[in-house]
Amino acid sequence: MSDERIYPVKPEIAASAHFNTEGYRQLYEQSINEPEIFWAEQAGAFLDWQHPWQEVLSYDYPKGEIAWFKGGQLNVSANCLDRHLSLRGDQIAIIWEGDDPDQQQQLTYRELYHQVCKFANVLKAQGVQKGDRVCIYLPMITEAAVVILACARIGAVHSIVFGGFSADALRDRILDADCRVLICADESYRGGKIVHSKLNADKAAAQCPNLQTLIVIEHTGHEIPWQAGRDISYRQAMQAAAAECPAEVMDAEDPLFILYTSGSTGKPKGVLHTTGGYLLYAAMTHKYVFDYQEGDIYWCTADIGWITGHSYVLYGPLCNGATSLMFEGVPTYPSPDRFWQVIDKHQVSIFYTAPTAIRALMAHGEAHVGHTSRQSLRILGSVGEPINPEAWEWYYQVVGNSRCPIVDTWWQTETGGILITPLPGATDLKPGSATLPFFGVQPALLDHDGQILEGPGEGILVLSHPWPGQARTIYGDHARFVDTYFGKYPGYYLAGDGARRDADGYYWITGRIDDVLNVSGHRLGTAEIESALVLHKDVAEAAVVGFPHPIKGQGIYAYVTLNVGVTGTDALKKELAVLVKEEISAIALPDIMQWAAGLPKTRSGKIMRRILRKIAANDFDNLGDISTLADPAVVEDLIAHRLHL
Ligand code: WT7
Repeated sequence: MSDERIYPVKPEIAASAHFNTEGYRQLYEQSINEPEIFWAEQAGAFLDWQHPWQEVLSYDYPKGEIAWFKGGQLNVSANCLDRHLSLRGDQIAIIWEGDDPDQQQQLTYRELYHQVCKFANVLKAQGVQKGDRVCIYLPMITEAAVVILACARIGAVHSIVFGGFSADALRDRILDADCRVLICADESYRGGKIVHSKLNADKAAAQCPNLQTLIVIEHTGHEIPWQAGRDISYRQAMQAAAAECPAEVMDAEDPLFILYTSGSTGKPKGVLHTTGGYLLYAAMTHKYVFDYQEGDIYWCTADIGWITGHSYVLYGPLCNGATSLMFEGVPTYPSPDRFWQVIDKHQVSIFYTAPTAIRALMAHGEAHVGHTSRQSLRILGSVGEPINPEAWEWYYQVVGNSRCPIVDTWWQTETGGILITPLPGATDLKPGSATLPFFGVQPALLDHDGQILEGPGEGILVLSHPWPGQARTIYGDHARFVDTYFGKYPGYYLAGDGARRDADGYYWITGRIDDVLNVSGHRLGTAEIESALVLHKDVAEAAVVGFPHPIKGQGIYAYVTLNVGVTGTDALKKELAVLVKEEISAIALPDIMQWAAGLPKTRSGKIMRRILRKIAANDFDNLGDISTLADPAVVEDLIAHRLHL
């Protein structure tokens, strides 16, 4: 498109950045032409290895087999902590900003190291061994960093479940990974309200027969129910724990963590990441994408329950010896200037957040930004969903005072780290485009027959070669891994997104091409929400689709067919909402529920979601061919009863 606005690289940024345009081009080329040499160099530069690898890369996409740095040995927590002690033991590793603006903490690398060693001993005392899975259900508190790194230290595989997920969702994830230990908080604060972490954990734990231990971190310190024999006080256990704990020597391909994410069908899948490749990729992308420099104060607003929190609140920054800010609260509490207040208070220089937050704050008006300084900012980042050019411009001009490049980073839980992104000193920016591939990343566009599209055009986004941060399997279901990512277009990793490539080779992500929704940057499967709705005795059938939502990016539109004789009431809608909250989370609540007399189905009984999406989007003119429907009249009825926000 010729009307696209371009923001050229700023000379003052390029002058001190790790890469300028030419530097990026050259290294990118090398990373593609000589990948093994390239990645070996990076692995040596970014990580401390206890034993060298024998083979940089071996892979077989059709079998879903991917291995990086085979034979190499290292420990993630030693790379994030021990090796920093001599140089930066007294540097702040984590700045914690509470939900309450008066609450804050700082942990140096040395303090964090000591706490991690102690908690590693606590886990060992509970019988946790290398390879065991530990479930972590925590708010954004410094202890989360401690327990995560402690798992890595002893080779236990952590499975973090977002603190906003329900007890049932937590239970399913504990069972799937067969975790024996669960770590929760007593309670936490979010936007001034109490979140009952322990109550949810209790409810989940009661339904997990193999779960032996619940370690409770005292955060609010309020009175909570206690099950003697099972529950352990974090504070007491830490007091009793020995201070030294050697880091377990791990193979590069040993599992580091499992993280559940939604797919287009079935239950959430446990995406598994391993040790060497993941850490290298998280650290390297953190340094180069955000142009991280010594002395930066870096803040990624993501929750540790999502991959962004794993890679860019903890592992990447700590591996690089950075100071990473952890925020317990929400952007609008106590007022919609909270982000900018925190930036001024801690002199944040790199800020990474989601478009949905930007749009929400934009809606509150510029006045909430204008009275803050934000002079400390140098780089802005965006992640989680496409950023609309309007939000991009506001972020750039109002938040960054037109001084700070925005890196719009495209990636996924499965990719471990950022794949398509600008580099601050190297890439001219176009609002709404994630721009160009990171080193070693080879995106391609396919048509529906799986043919490669050359030059400008739009298609199915795939990656033709592995990168070190790539997921290795779905825990307990390798067949699903192969099927989901490598089955449909053999020889490629299928991301599940569509994209357009322009004449400059820039990528514009157009959104998911499967039945996965992206609601406020949260990934949800339509099937999961439908399953929750049909649990109700009065519901015959449900179909869920996304629709354009001004703040959330995508909203959730649910068409619900009731059993014969049941009348749709507001009370029933409330019951369904409770069900979704209990089964999944408040983030999965439908924005709109429409009672549907019938759903558009083909004669073979397949629901035609394409039509439901059009109706939800108010786009009635392009419904396409509906003559193949078993009963075309249902479409008229759905349109007649379409509801609005
Ligand atoms: C999906 C992955 C990336 C970590 C957080 C979400 C969408 C992500 C962008 C972006 C357009 C984006 C994609 C992707 N997405 N970043 N910069 N531009 N879309 O991880 O929960 O695994 O979701 O988020 O649709 O497939 P996730």
